Parts: sequence; C-alpha cells; structure tokens
Amino acid sequence: MAIIYDEKAKCITLHTKNSSYQMKIGNLDYLIHLYYGPRMPDSDLSWQIRQYDRGFSGNPYRSRHERTFSLDAQPQEFPTQQQGDFRIGSIDVMNADGSRCFNGLVKDVSISEGKYRLLTLPASFASDKDTVHSLRITLEDEYSHVQAILQYGVFEQADIITRSVTVKNGGRQPIHLHKIMSVCLDFLNGSDMDIVNFPGRYGQERQVERQPLTHHVHKIRSGRGISSHQQNPFVALTDRTVTEESGSCYGFSLMYSGSFLAEVELDQYDQVRLVMGINDRLFSYAVEAGEDFDTPAVLMTYTDSGLTGMSHIYHDFFRNNLNRSRFVKDVKRPVLLNTWEAAFFDFDDVKLVEIARAAKKMGVEMIVMDDGWFGKRDDDNSGLGDWYVNEDKIKCGLKSLVEQVNAKGLKFGIWMEPEMVNEDSDLYRAHPDWAFAMPGRTPARARNQLVLDLSRQEVVDYLYGCIAKVLSENNIEYLKWDMNRSLSDVYSAVLPASRQGEVLHRFMLGLYGLMERVTKDFPDVLIEGCSGGGARFDAGILCYSPQIWCSDDTDPIHRLSIQYGTSFGYPVSTVGAHVSASPNHQTGRTTPFNTRGVTAMAGTFGYELDPAKLSLEEKNMIREQLGIFREHYDLIQDGFYYRLTGLGEEPYMAWEFASEDRNEALLSVVVKDIQPNQTLINIRLKGLDPDGLYKLTEESKKYMVHNMMYPDIEARREYYKGDALMNAGYTFPMVFGDYPAMQLHFSRVD
Ligand code: GLA
Repeated sequence: MAIIYDEKAKCITLHTKNSSYQMKIGNLDYLIHLYYGPRMPDSDLSWQIRQYDRGFSGNPYRSRHERTFSLDAQPQEFPTQQQGDFRIGSIDVMNADGSRCFNGLVKDVSISEGKYRLLTLPASFASDKDTVHSLRITLEDEYSHVQAILQYGVFEQADIITRSVTVKNGGRQPIHLHKIMSVCLDFLNGSDMDIVNFPGRYGQERQVERQPLTHHVHKIRSGRGISSHQQNPFVALTDRTVTEESGSCYGFSLMYSGSFLAEVELDQYDQVRLVMGINDRLFSYAVEAGEDFDTPAVLMTYTDSGLTGMSHIYHDFFRNNLNRSRFVKDVKRPVLLNTWEAAFFDFDDVKLVEIARAAKKMGVEMIVMDDGWFGKRDDDNSGLGDWYVNEDKIKCGLKSLVEQVNAKGLKFGIWMEPEMVNEDSDLYRAHPDWAFAMPGRTPARARNQLVLDLSRQEVVDYLYGCIAKVLSENNIEYLKWDMNRSLSDVYSAVLPASRQGEVLHRFMLGLYGLMERVTKDFPDVLIEGCSGGGARFDAGILCYSPQIWCSDDTDPIHRLSIQYGTSFGYPVSTVGAHVSASPNHQTGRTTPFNTRGVTAMAGTFGYELDPAKLSLEEKNMIREQLGIFREHYDLIQDGFYYRLTGLGEEPYMAWEFASEDRNEALLSVVVKDIQPNQTLINIRLKGLDPDGLYKLTEESKKYMVHNMMYPDIEARREYYKGDALMNAGYTFPMVFGDYPAMQLHFSRVD
C-alpha cells in the first residue's frame, strides 16, 4: 500500500518504489514532517526530533508552562502563521478581523484510490504503468475556521509525490490570501546541501547554477506573469557531493506557468525549509465564506541515483502522466519547416507554396506558417488580436493556401499569439479595456504589444472563438501558441479595487481554461508552446502542449548549454529544436550543417530556413539527416537520455540516448572549441549491457569520414564490448575543422 495511516502512532507514511515520506500528528495536533528519503519501513521516526528549551524561540500557548516545544524548530508540513515560527512560511492570510494568523491543527485524514483532481489547474494523471493513491489532510484554525487541505498524490512506480493545497474558508466573512505555497518541505539537517536552479535570459534560457545553502533565504522566482527566461519553476536540492551517477537529489517541479516563487532557508539550527508556489508579489486573493482556493501542484521526487536518476524520473513522468495528447505516445510528430527564420514577415501565399514544394522534395512533412499571416501584420507593430487572414499577403485566402500545401503532400501548421494585442488592431480599437492598463496611466509596451485581460471570461470566450474558427475551417494540424512579453500594468477594468491582487492568477486560470477547451475540442492538433523561445517552459504548460520551442537562439553551439540545462527537468520529447541557416541569425556564427542537425536531434527536430537558399549539398544533407532522425525517432524520444559532459572545461559536449532494452545507443558529440595538438575525446557510454557486443553501424562511419583526420584507421574497428565502452570509453580519432559534430550509433549484435 502506498499510503499507510497508523492511527495509533498517528503516523502517515507514503511509499513510492524507491522513496518514503513520513509525517505525524504530533504535539497539540500540529502536523510534523518526519522524513523524505530512501524507502524505509513504516515505523514511526519521530524519535529523531529532540525537544529542548531554545532561547528566543517561543512556544504555543497551549503548551502551558512546557518550554521545549517550539514551532520555530519543528519540521512541519504546513507551517502556521504568527504562532512563533519565524522561518519562511507557507501561508499569509488576513482574516476578516484584520488579524494575519493561521494556526492549522489536524482535523481529518482520508486516503483514496486514484489521483485527486484540481478543477481549474493543470493536473497529472495515472498512467497504465502506475497505481496512484491520494491523501487528504485537513488542517483547521479553530478560531477563524479557515482550513488548509493538503492533497498528496502518490505515484508509486513513477517515484513522484505531488502536493497541492486547497484553502477553504469555513468562516462567515471573506478572508484574503497574501501568500499560499503549494509545498513545504523541512529537513532536519541541511548544512551539506546544494541548491540547483536554472537562471537565464532571452536567447539563453535554463543555464545551470549550483551553490551551497548558506544561512539566508535563497529566492528563485519570476514576477513576470510567465515562468520566464530568467528562472525556471524547477529546482533541486542535492547532496554537496552529488554527481550525475550517484548521491541524493530532491526535485521540485511546479505545475504553473505564471509568476512563481521557490524559497529555501537554512535556519539557525542548520535545518532546511523549502517552499514553492505562486509568487506572493502582487498577489492577494479574496476567498469568500464557503469558497475554496486551489494552489497548483508541485511534483516532488527523491532519488539516490544522482542528477541523472532525478532527470530520468521527470522524463518518464512527463512522457506518461502529464499530457493526454496522442502526439505524446501514439502518433509520431511530423518533421516541420517553420517559416520564421526562413522569411520573417516577408512572405505571401506564392512564396509559402514555393517553400512547401521545396520542403516536400527534401522530405519535410509539415509547413508551419509563423507570425505575419493575419490582420495588418507586416512587422511587429500591428495586427495582434485580429485573427483573420491578411489578404494583402495571403491573397488566395487561408483555406486555399492550406489546400495548396496539402496538395503538395504536406501538413499545415500555424502560429498564433492569442494572449496579446497591438494598439493598432481592430480588436483594440473595439475593446481598448480588454488590455491591461491602470486607470489614468499609459501601459508599458513590450515589442509594441499589450496583454489581454484573460481574467475576463468574455475575453477568453472571444479568443476561443478566434482559435476555433481558424482550426475548424481549415485543415490545420499544428498550432504554435506564442506569448511574447512579460506582464506589467496588471489591472482588470472589471474587478473592484480590493480584488486587483487576483488578476495575475486569474489570468493564468483564464489561460488554462482556454487551453483546456482548445485541446479538448481539437485533439488532433499538435500544440507547440512558445514564449519568445522558452520563457514558458514548465510542467503547467506541458499539460496542454507536448512540446515547447526551447529558445529563439538557434545557434547550435549556444543551444548546447540551453538544451543541457533544460534536460535536467524536461525530456527531449518536449524540446523544440530546429536546424537554421548559417551564419546564424542571432549570433552571426557560421557552423557546419551537420553540427546544426546533430544539435537539433536532441529535440523534436525540424527546419527553420529558406530552402531556396540551400546548396545542393545541403539539400542532400537534409535527406540524410531526416533518414537518421526517423530511424532513431523512438530512441531519441523515448530512450534514456544521458548527459556525458557538463559545462566544465571540456572543449566539447556529449550526450547519449540508450534504449531501455539496452540494444542500441546513439552517442552525440559537438566540439565547441577546436584545438591543435588536441587531447583526444574519450567518452564513457552509459546504459549499455556490460556483456553485450555492440557494432558501430554503417551511418556512423560517415561521421568519421566527414570530421576525422584519420578515417581509414577508425573505419577498421567495428565491434565493442558494452563494458569496454562504459568503463574504458570510446576514443575518437583527432577531429578537425570548425565546430565538428559526430553522431555514432551502436547496435547490439550479441
Ligand atoms: C517569438 C518566437 C519565434 C517567432 C516570433 C514571431 O519570438 O519565439 O519563434 O515565432 O515570435 O514573432
């Protein structure tokens, strides 16, 4: 049983395949956290908490004269507010009488089969591989009758525990939430822990940072109304000595795409507390008497198999338990050519059909018409909001264009940015109050656009109508759902002054409601999320879009570190990656076509260039790349992904896909900095059968010939033992030229 409630000991233990999590209804009915770590028997671990009189750490009144029980030092599941715990908190609620206090004591515990549901927020679900149980613990403040209902979903096989909180106002007056965190996890000793997070900027998302916890509050957050380029709602706490292969890792992935907050505090007693949830900045939410407020869920995991072990848990979970689209498992995603870097705003129907004709010849399966096809959109100053075709460009009309592309044997995909509006648009002229702006003030523009107020149902309904019309009237099989600015001037024209603090979160509820409707009504449309590249790359949006455009930076050398960082929390099947033109549009760097292909194959794979500008050799290489990608599609999308190098001193990066049955592996290496008289590249592979005999397949030899100084020597050796490849490693001959890349496929023969 995954959830055990020992009523006598008042202990509740959750078990997944490799982890256990324990809490206890402790002194005075506070819910104490006892343990999260390697799987253990159910026995009560409360003996590890020692009580003593701690100076300047007060005691609940009901302890009477007993001075040893201090909430300031107790590990808790949901810390109280203003009851003597001065660490970072999980709730800040203002009661009707103006008091800011919540003293939650356990009232009820219930266990059920299956996964609990959150009605308005993205949710994970049980897959056929898993059994899921849910636990609900109700904490109540006896004075205000406010309840915090802690909900846990235990995915036993997946090694994931989800947690979210529902606040129920059982009082007679409204209350105001100023902070409400989805998760709180306390550790008795964290002085040797590191925090790993993923900061970045536009075009450089999800770089990896790792630092020791010190005695202050580490804050990782986005206040931009999107999960952001600058931080990501995924963090890990690890042993200081953790490596890719071994050591303890705790992962926390928030299923939310708006402003978020993760705080980690190393306290005066070297205990650690982590909280994570909706950012409390600009947040204040009124909960009327009898109403509920749900927080988004956090996906927690524990593993002692190092950073790779943690990543594999999330990769699997995201492939099985997050998104019901048939494109996640059942249907292969088409290889597409996107028109953005091919033409930017400069295209018409004739040019698109021409691109389609050339793309078909190269073996591409879908054309995606990016920004610029609608309204009066000739640059980024106008048109957003007017989701009808720009007849100056698409003279034949959208339906005919789609038909012409289909007639060439290609599928058709389209770009939309539903949440935005330009002032120069029919929509804005008709409904200026649908855009965020503060009374009497002019709103900040970004990319010359404003943000629509999705907290209003009429706005959401209007957008649904626009999207549904485009998708139902035309044979469109893919939607790139973009979002190209951060939210400012957050103010809704229809909410009273006292409720303006709700707008950011209501915007998210509006967005999720819209995505839910679109995905339900158009299940055959593949949605790719996007936000100026990867500013909304999170477990929330991935419930609706199986893939997300990872970054606007398509320079394959920069992409290496972006895709490397992204891989810690997200599988390759979610990473939108394309081969673009060289010199690169973002950096001006020139790289080989092959290198661009190898890098984009650590993602969904596609092209973002004008076929008319390709040489014959490049066109041939596309055919070759498509052959390789299609042959290894399952291995790339579903195999175990291994990071074989870090961001250290090596002048190259290497990664590998290995099949679950250990029958094959695809090893990729990209050289970032070519050196004379070089140290040879030696890579130890992972995930093979030590006793297996592996053959270097034919296609791999081509890479030798392309990039190596001594192809003839290398071509002679073809068979390798699995243990030799994993322990001694594969040593490449000397490589040569600008940014060479190699992709070797090993197939088991014995
Ligand atoms: C964003 C996206 C790009 C492209 C442009 C179009 O920047 O990330 O891929 O779609 O918008 O304006």
